[in-house]
Amino acid sequence: MATALRTLHQAPTPPPLPLSQIPDHVAIIMDGNGRWARIRGRPRLAGHRAGTENLRHIIERFADYGVRHLTLYAFSTENWNRPRREVRGLMAILSQVIKRETKHLHGNGIRLLHIGDLSALDPRLQRQVREAIELTRDNDRMTLAIAFNYGGRAEIVDAVRRIVTHGIPPEQIDEHLFAAYLSTAGLPDPDLIIRTAGEMRLSNFLLWQGAYAEFCTTPVYWPDFDIHDIDEALLAYSQRKRRFGGLLPDETDYPTPRNSKNGARPQGRNGRKT
Ligand code: FPP
Repeated sequence: MATALRTLHQAPTPPPLPLSQIPDHVAIIMDGNGRWARIRGRPRLAGHRAGTENLRHIIERFADYGVRHLTLYAFSTENWNRPRREVRGLMAILSQVIKRETKHLHGNGIRLLHIGDLSALDPRLQRQVREAIELTRDNDRMTLAIAFNYGGRAEIVDAVRRIVTHGIPPEQIDEHLFAAYLSTAGLPDPDLIIRTAGEMRLSNFLLWQGAYAEFCTTPVYWPDFDIHDIDEALLAYSQRKRRFGGLLPDETDYPTPRNSKNGARPQGRNGRKT
């Protein structure tokens, strides 16, 4: 009822801001569901459920901005350490979100992907996820990747194991090949990582891929995160100067090497980025 009233009184959605720079890939650490519930005297799962009500609007808003890839961190490899009831509840929520949202995503040209280890989930849930991915596979307006049972370290260890299993000789292993063994293979690195609820850490999210991501935090708890918070994050991003360890053309004192992207050596001194 409260949600219905809120929807009824909602002002029309303002148009996207005209921004000079839009990230190709935004990744979000959705945090604060538990705190959102606690301050309302409600169980934690109510916070997680509330954290699914904004999904449709949020996905649409990013798509309206022309963001081509959106990754949502919904369940980490460490979240198994939570009480069994909460873990079961989060699994049920994933299933409900897929049931409720797949048709809508498909109708809006959004391709669904999963990153992480699906094999540990209930076989019915695995099938549901696979079917949604299959249904939406040819959509090209935006790719939505759900990180569920995802952990950056586990992903890196798994990549190393598969590279060894495939007998790849060491001299063939470079950053490009390694990235192709991650569960994000085919996705660009995130340009912007947003974390809600005020914490300032990565929590094992996209450790490899986030090497040069811009980071943005907001004190807003995830269930309250809305299109205005997206506008704010994208505005902040549009004002960032991205150097990838190099310098921008107007920052250099010396002539720039011809093969450089931003004005510095492509790999920085000693082959390291800084
Ligand atoms: C972190 O909040 C949030 C999670 C562990 C779950 C996120 C899941 C959803 C928003 C719902 C499912 C969404 C999809 C896309 C399937 P927390 O519980 O750590 O909050 P706290 O730090 O305040 O306790």
